Amino acid sequence: MITINFIAAPADNSWANSTFDCKTGQTLMQAATAHNVKGIEADCGGLMTCGTCHVFVREPHASQLPPPSSDELAMLDFTATPRQPNSRLSCQITLTPALDGLTVDLPASQH
Ligand code: FES
Repeated sequence: MITINFIAAPADNSWANSTFDCKTGQTLMQAATAHNVKGIEADCGGLMTCGTCHVFVREPHASQLPPPSSDELAMLDFTATPRQPNSRLSCQITLTPALDGLTVDLPASQH
């Protein structure tokens, strides 16, 4: 188990920041949906066709992740909240022990 921190968008007063113990081997999107994290919609279930699992990954972990594939980069062009340099699709991040303490900011909107 590793600890993941989800930070609510500043304008979102309906949900507080949360920290969960998550299983390694699953994707960040799977961990988020398993814990009903508000702000991760994951409409396509991880097929990389919806962009509704968009997150902003904080350092030091952002630079430790494998780089996004060309397909992930293309999908990030269609996210509801404009992408930033640390934008990733959470369905493409596999949780490993090295990601213990990972903190991600949730976008203001996924639709
Ligand atoms: S769950 Fe649809 S792109 Fe990640």
